[in-house]
Amino acid sequence: MSILEDISKLKRVVGNTPMKCSWTEGVRVCIKLEYSNPTGSHKDRIALAMIERAARERLLDRGGCVAEASSGNTAVSVAWASGLLGVRSVLYVEKESSPLKKAMIKLMGGRLVEIGDEGLDIYRVVEESEEMGCIFLDQLRNPANPEAHYYETAHEILVQTGHRIDALVMGVGTGGTIMGVGTRLKEELGNTLIIGVTPRGSPLDPRGPGSTPSRIEGLASRTIPPLTGWRSNVIDRIEPASEEDARSGVRGLAKEIGILAGLSTGAAYYAFKKLLKEGMFSVGDTVVLIAADHITRYPDILTRL
Ligand SMILES: Cc1ncc(COP(=O)(O)O)c(C=O)c1O
Repeated sequence: MSILEDISKLKRVVGNTPMKCSWTEGVRVCIKLEYSNPTGSHKDRIALAMIERAARERLLDRGGCVAEASSGNTAVSVAWASGLLGVRSVLYVEKESSPLKKAMIKLMGGRLVEIGDEGLDIYRVVEESEEMGCIFLDQLRNPANPEAHYYETAHEILVQTGHRIDALVMGVGTGGTIMGVGTRLKEELGNTLIIGVTPRGSPLDPRGPGSTPSRIEGLASRTIPPLTGWRSNVIDRIEPASEEDARSGVRGLAKEIGILAGLSTGAAYYAFKKLLKEGMFSVGDTVVLIAADHITRYPDILTRL
């Protein structure tokens, strides 16, 4: 069986995640539970999509090697998919990332390289990957990232909501999810409001970047993700959130909706509640959030919530 056949088999267990809808002050809030994917995050979709693209372009086959840099979730997904496909993986992960994610990468046979305070030197990483005979997947620039969300995540959201979506609220990491889903929703529905959430003080913060931006694992705090320019006029508004805002969102989601999501989802829920209070949404509106991962992935945060 070819690697492409194996990839299409694996795709059958990724996506088609459930959605939980409830009502808050007359507004329907629908949360797509992406933590139901095999490794527990939305990144399983893009790991497979980027590997598939490389295989289709005949850059990758069994016995080959892929490399990726990530705050952890994409690295876990790449380690998972490549392990099952007989491909080696080298994953560059921030030292500060969840120890659970690092343990999962090792468990699945991925080679973990920790990035320290010096930050990620993308040129060095690409060069090193090539020296090791690996293809650098590059989720920050790879069009397979937003395309996976455009064709799959967005399609599922449209079906699950009955094609009724007034707003999407999503944290911006690589920007792949918000750009892919946002583009499709705008194309299909015309007027869906696309709201990005960013760590307070990041370069995307409308109030301007700060010297010490908040850190919300998975969201871009020091750079403007290149994929946010993948299509024009997709993101209508950016809401900043501090780490404490994200924690309060995690608590709110757990108590009010019964969803135990990670910090980036907490940040999106905080932004939703803030905008609801400000009168951004009308009675009868449907607002979609995407629970990228689960709070149990962050035991240190969970025990200090
Ligand atoms: C937990 C979490 N939430 C949100 C995001 C943002 O998703 P995207 O990279 O598609 O913007 C990421 C990305 O790594 C993430 O790990």
